[in-house]
Amino acid sequence: MNMFSQSLNASSPRLSPNPPSREVELSQRSFRSVSDFQKAKKEGRKISMLSVYDAVYSRLAVDAGVNTLLVGDSVAMALYGFESTIHATVEMIALHVEAVRRTCPNVFLVADLPFGSYRKGLNAAMKATETLARAGASAVKLEGVKGNEKVISHIIESGIPVMGHLGLTPQHALALGGFKAQGRTEEAANRISEDARTLEDLGAFSLVLECVSRDLAARISSQLSIPVIGIGAGAQVDGQVLVAYDLLGLSPGRSPRFVRKYLDGKAMVLKAFEEFFRSVDEAQYPSEAESYA
Ligand code: KIV
Repeated sequence: MNMFSQSLNASSPRLSPNPPSREVELSQRSFRSVSDFQKAKKEGRKISMLSVYDAVYSRLAVDAGVNTLLVGDSVAMALYGFESTIHATVEMIALHVEAVRRTCPNVFLVADLPFGSYRKGLNAAMKATETLARAGASAVKLEGVKGNEKVISHIIESGIPVMGHLGLTPQHALALGGFKAQGRTEEAANRISEDARTLEDLGAFSLVLECVSRDLAARISSQLSIPVIGIGAGAQVDGQVLVAYDLLGLSPGRSPRFVRKYLDGKAMVLKAFEEFFRSVDEAQYPSEAESYA
């Protein structure tokens, strides 16, 4: 850039000879710090979060304009084929955090503290947090509040931001009797609401609220100054999160009602694989152009 274009840009940005590409503009939507979450809530801008596990989809998500990424413990189910998230380990999550961080160096990246990792005392919780932070996480997420108060405060005091997770907390699926909507009675709804306030008081910078009625979610969102990111919690919250494989239609089995499939990924991938196998069977692949002379 020469002196002329510099001063031209400064005085009349609309005449910029190199307007930012759509891709650059979208990738600039990614959050960098917790203050971006507060700012979004204050300004009434919805937050988009995607649960991703690898270099390919995380890069695409950032290029498409996602605000923030999560390496969720759903990785144990989506990628490793386990029945529940309790099979996720710190090492498993850390490996995926590294992959995402390598390809998305600037995005605010939340990592799930997996089952058990924050229930064996402060030292164990800090060790898990340290591993995930060193792998590239900007923050950690953990499920529930009761019994976790000290751990949450300790992690925050140590300098790592904490995102809460209330409502349907999949690490408790065995105790909750499966993956089902929570807060169905007044008492249960009030408990979730109180837990949300406690999280805010403890210093959590935001929380995920999963599978609760839209009224309860709206109430909690309006009561808190930290953003509430919903999944199966209706539209009147401060943002939405989905698992990338779910919205791409790649997850096996039946999807919960809140999942909107933006792509019929399974059918598309099946078709591509079938075409490859057929062209191999019929000796139509590779062609001459796809071969070396
Ligand atoms: O594990 C995960 O991907 C999550 C999101 C669904 C919120 O916790």
